[in-house]
Order: sequence, then C-alpha cells, then structure tokens
Amino acid sequence: MHEVPELTRRPQWTALEDHRTDTLPRPDLRELFAADPSRAERYVVRVGDLYVDYSKHLVTDETLALLRELAEATGVFALRDAMFRGERINTTEDRAVLHTALRAPREAVVEVDGQNVVPAVHAVLDQMAAFADRVRSGRWTGHTGRRIRNVVNVGIGGSDLGPAMAYEALRAYTDRALTFRFVSNVDGADLHEAVRDLDPAETLFVIASKTFTTVETVTNATAARAWLLAALGDEAAVAKHFVALSTNAEEVAGFGIDPANMFEFWDWVGGRYSYDSAIGLSLMIAIGPERFREMLAGFRIVDEHFRTAPTEANVPLLLGLLGIWYNNFLGAQSHAVLPYSHYLARFTAYLQQLDMESNGKSVDRRGRAVQWQTGPVVWGTPGTNGQHAYYQLIHQGTKLVPADFIGFAEPVAELSGGLRAQHDLLMANFFAQTQALAFGRTPEEVRAEGVPEELVPHKTFRGNHPTTTILARALTPSVLGQLVALYEHKVFVQGAVWDIDSFDQWGVELGKVLARRVEPALTDGTPVPGLDPSTAALVAAYRELRK
Ligand code: F6P
Repeated sequence: MHEVPELTRRPQWTALEDHRTDTLPRPDLRELFAADPSRAERYVVRVGDLYVDYSKHLVTDETLALLRELAEATGVFALRDAMFRGERINTTEDRAVLHTALRAPREAVVEVDGQNVVPAVHAVLDQMAAFADRVRSGRWTGHTGRRIRNVVNVGIGGSDLGPAMAYEALRAYTDRALTFRFVSNVDGADLHEAVRDLDPAETLFVIASKTFTTVETVTNATAARAWLLAALGDEAAVAKHFVALSTNAEEVAGFGIDPANMFEFWDWVGGRYSYDSAIGLSLMIAIGPERFREMLAGFRIVDEHFRTAPTEANVPLLLGLLGIWYNNFLGAQSHAVLPYSHYLARFTAYLQQLDMESNGKSVDRRGRAVQWQTGPVVWGTPGTNGQHAYYQLIHQGTKLVPADFIGFAEPVAELSGGLRAQHDLLMANFFAQTQALAFGRTPEEVRAEGVPEELVPHKTFRGNHPTTTILARALTPSVLGQLVALYEHKVFVQGAVWDIDSFDQWGVELGKVLARRVEPALTDGTPVPGLDPSTAALVAAYRELRK
C-alpha cells in the first residue's frame, strides 16, 4: 500500500498555491464583477429555505473548480458516505459519528455494528414528547402538587450551548407562560442568579450531561438539589423535580435521579452535535414536540442535500471550501458569523464550540503534526450591534476576516406596528455592510465628495472583504435546523480536507485534570506536587487576597 501524500504536497494543493500566486495580491471584487456581470446570479445556491449568495468572494470559476478537485482528492465524499453509513470515523475514540441519525425519519434504517438505531432514536423522541406535553399541560406536577412553571437546564458545552441557543432563536415559538433558564458555569453566581427568584415547588431541573461526570454539571446539579431540598425538605421531591439527559444510566442513578426520568442518547452523538437528541428536552418543553419535529425536518433537508447534491451545488461543501481558500491560501486567521437577528444572539457562541472544538487540532488522523493551518477562530455577535463595535477593524484594519451575514426577509410574527417596520432598517444595514465590505470607497469617490485631501486616506475604504450572504424568509424551527446542519457539514468538509479527527476533543482534558489537582491548594493550602513556579505564586497570592 502506498503512502497517502501529505496534504500540502498534493498536486491539487500546489495548483491552488499557483493559482493564488497568479492572482496576487488578491482577486479584486470590483474587477470580478466588471468582468462578469452575471456573477450575482451565477454565484447563488439554494438549499431548503436558504438562499446563499457567494458572489462577494475572492474567487473565480477556476478557484472553485480547483477547490472542488482538492475535496475530491482528499476523500471528502468517501468520508461523508462513511459517516452516513455509521462507520467509526471518529478513530481516536473508536466511535461512529451519527448525529444525522437523530433526524432520520421513523422508517429509515441506519446501522451501527449491524443494529438499526432509528427505532431507539424515535422511542426517545416519543418519550420526550410525552414528557414535554405533560409539563406544558400542567399534568406533570411538582412534589407539592403545584404545576411546573420554571425549567432550569443544567449542563455545559454541547449540553448547554445547543439548547440555550435554540431556545433564544425560537423564543417566539415558546410557551410564554413557562420560564426557562440555562445554567452552565461552575461559578456559583450562575446558579444563584438563575434560581434566586424562582419558587422551588414550581421548578424542574433538567440535568444535561452526556457523560454525567462533568464536574461543572455534577457540582451545579448537586447545589440545585440542595436548594430544592432546603425548601421542600423531602428526598422524595427529587423524583418530581429532576430529570436527566445522558448516555450514562449508572451515574444518573447514582446521583439519585429515577432512571424512569432519564432520557437516553448514545456514544455516537458528539456533545457539540447533540441538541437534536435528548439534550434538546428543555427546548422541546419550550416549543412543543411538533415544532421540535419541524426543526428536525429542517436538519434532515440539509443532511440529504449534503449527501446527494452535485459538487457544484453542494452548499456545505462550497462553504467549507471557501473557508479553506481563505484559511490556507490567503492567510485569514478567523471567520466571523454575523446574524442580523436578535434571536440568533447565541448562534455564534454555539458555532464556536461546533467549529473550534471540532477543528482546533494540530495532528492528522494518524497523529502526525500537520504542516498546514486547521480551524479558524470563529467569532461574531448580532448586527447591528457589532457595527458599532468591531466592524471598523473588518472595514479598515489590516486583517482579512471572511464573514457570514445571516438575515431574514420577515421579522417574527409577534412583532407588530412600528417594531415590525424596523425590520427594513435592520436589513438595510445588512445589505449596506456587505456592499461596503466588498466594494469600499475609492480615494476618487471620497475626493468627489469634497473631503479635504489630508482626510482622504482616512475615509477611503479598500473594500475587497469577502462575505457570504445567507437569506431566508423567516427564522422558523425548520430554518434553524437547516442553518445548524449547514454549519455542521461545513465543519465536516474542512476537517476531512485537513485530515484531522473532527469528532474528538482531547484538548479539553488537560485543563480538567489540572483543575482537579489545584483545587485542594486553594481550599486548604495543600501543597500541589510539581506545580510550576508561576502558578504556585498565583495560588499563594489568591490565598493571601482571600484572607
Ligand atoms: O468541553 C468538552 C466536553 O466534553 C464537550 O465536548 C461536551 O459538550 C461538554 O464537555 C459537556 O460534556 P457532558 O455532556 O458529558 O457533560
């Protein structure tokens, strides 16, 4: 068997490097549009309800063809098919990667080790739906017989960011009579602020943890139980006020939660890919089972598209490859995601885990140090706020920041009158920003406005900043599912090209181990063997300051 060539030695890679050199300093958007007026129509792709415009990218037909050849040569499609087939493509953990099975229809067959997992997926969805309906209707009551009015999700990472993001995104679809809180941080302030105004007799804790060993979650769950018992004074109350979402039945039972109140998922669901599993229970209570299923159907649309669409029209493939062009050939270090929807306030934070925990790797699948850039820093907040904060750097700074702009034609149905009318102003900003980023303002245009010569350089916008525009009619449950699946598969494409395992997260472990070792030193001054001098001095200063 011959060696697979190193990524950067592949002819498809060097062809892209040559192509980059040919177009130095960079392809120019003004010139590209002047040379091809049909670009605005040609560089548009659609998937489900998403209209994706990539005309404002620093690419030509040739760039795109070369990128597609790279994807072909690096086995992206073979790996994609292996993922959908349930093969163990997460090699360092020896696990299948099957979040796509979470949204498979009831009649589908997806096998892991010869076992069809779809019936189990739907059995849990049905269990979740029955429970969500009981809480929403008031039939599930607390220990004292009062109905549940507050739901507190306790989890961290994928067991928090997904449900918290989606709850915010779909707030307009939630039962407004219920209060939802999301607690993640081991800083006691998080739980304190979440429960201080709640009545324990009306509060349900949803303990979300794939492993049920995550120290933040177990600590907060233990504190939540103490808070509840301090008010209700009876261990039996736990059964009515605590449910668990986990793969680990033993730990759940050990914590004291009735296994009948556990909603299961499986080791082939990665934490950051899990909010459409049992981890979405808080969200399902908020929006109801029907809306939750609509969201799953949205995911499914993009799964099917990714699996079957031709390469030229395959949207996750395209977005992944555009990212590779900037990250590996044009020197970009980061990628901004800028939603023009207040409801998507947590969307980029969610994507940070999805992308950076997946592709923040520096060894390839065989453990060899990579000689190429891997995942970018993902960042961003909703427009228009970002415009008055960091957009200055994107417009006139020295860094290349490719950005995704996500916007909607309609505001949520709840908005009326003047607030509804504000939507056009929001979207005017949305379009104006991508226009300014792409085409800037030349010195001649600035001078023509009568600007004094000494200010011309300051008021000139170089432009040529690449953006993707993603538009949909409205932010519905289905559209949210489509958006999340789009990014999941984009991240997949990039990890496949970079030849890394996008589904493990060993980098998170070291900090956890060291925290456990340092904690006794903070609490009672126990010396920590082998502590480095800098950290030892900081621990001493901390203890001194606390006196
Ligand atoms: O941050 C590391 C991590 O393992 C994530 O991948 C995961 O989403 C998070 O911790 C929470 O893990 P768990 O759901 O097992 O508590």
